[in-house]
Amino acid sequence: MGDFSSHIAIIGGGVIGGGWAARLIENGFKVRIFDPDPDAERKIANVLENASVASKNLSDIPRPIPGEVVYSKSINEAAKNALLIIESVPERIEIKRAVYREIEIHAPANALITSSTSGLLPSDLQAELLHPERLLVAHPFNPVYLLPLVELVGGKKTSPDNIERAKGFFKSLGMRPLHVRKEIEAFIADRFLEAVWREALWLVKDGIATTEEIDDAIRFGFGLRWAQMGLFETYRIAGGEAGMKHFIEQFGPCLELPWTKLMDVPKLDDELVEQIASQSDAQSGAYSIRELERIRDNNLVGILKALKANDWGAGKTLADYERGLIQDIVE
Ligand SMILES: NC(=O)c1ccc[n+]([C@@H]2O[C@H](COP(=O)([O-])OP(=O)(O)OC[C@H]3O[C@@H](n4cnc5c(N)ncnc54)[C@H](O)[C@@H]3O)[C@@H](O)[C@H]2O)c1
Repeated sequence: MGDFSSHIAIIGGGVIGGGWAARLIENGFKVRIFDPDPDAERKIANVLENASVASKNLSDIPRPIPGEVVYSKSINEAAKNALLIIESVPERIEIKRAVYREIEIHAPANALITSSTSGLLPSDLQAELLHPERLLVAHPFNPVYLLPLVELVGGKKTSPDNIERAKGFFKSLGMRPLHVRKEIEAFIADRFLEAVWREALWLVKDGIATTEEIDDAIRFGFGLRWAQMGLFETYRIAGGEAGMKHFIEQFGPCLELPWTKLMDVPKLDDELVEQIASQSDAQSGAYSIRELERIRDNNLVGILKALKANDWGAGKTLADYERGLIQDIVE
């Protein structure tokens, strides 16, 4: 587990902070969380319960003895003596910077600080830090305890050593750290998702498809392909025996056709928001969010296990992680 033998602090225990807590305690770490929401403890407990079920279902080997979560009353209490501080507060730069100011007063000078931000630039996040070299973005995906991807993005002042430190650490948690070498807003995955999201909003607004029809267009088709081969490898096969070059020659010119409205953003006025919300209620309102979380987790576990059996993609990351855990037990 590298040099992260002390506890890990999580500042902000919402959807993402709770998910980080779950992945960490499933790996035996002690976690201290600070969140001012009086309901945070209950919400985190729900995430931890889901994560515990998912980890048991996913794992084919004995799991590490789970760590523990301690709820702190202040940033000070959480960050003091922590060797890693994971910031998962709302996506507003002034809130994040205020949190860092306090972390810097209390945390050890060598403590790494990672931000879960979905798109803010690390250079902007670290601008006011006394030790900016130790801040980087570690952008995870929900549910953090099941999805292995974490995008690592350094700012202008982040030290390469700290990127390497973070890579090693997140790998030891069974994750796939993807180093985004050039700093760019929204990194890699969310730039992609934003494009898909914009196009989906247009399809609803223009009355072409409902939320359910859009989801079906994804999950019955290309969504299944993407989970195991992504975009380019999938298209390589779609080019037939002639491969990628043929695929691009055939479909590249379509990009000139008016197939998408990608750069225009539909106005999210009350009418569109209501349209999406009511279609989503009709599509999924029969289930509570907790039921949907469990269904999602069970499906993800099944997919990951199938990929693990094939030693492929996210399943290979899982298989490597489990081989490492067995090695630890043997040693
Ligand atoms: N939700 C996602 O799918 C997702 C995915 C990846 C990254 N992120 C990023 O993770 C971060 C957190 O997002 P989220 O979805 O968990 O939001 P959230 O609203 O679920 O949680 C944010 C939490 O921060 C707490 N908080 C507010 N001010 C605080 C403060 N000063 N100190 C400590 N805690 C404070 C809130 O009480 C809340 O519980 C954001 O930067 C977001 O962009 C979100």
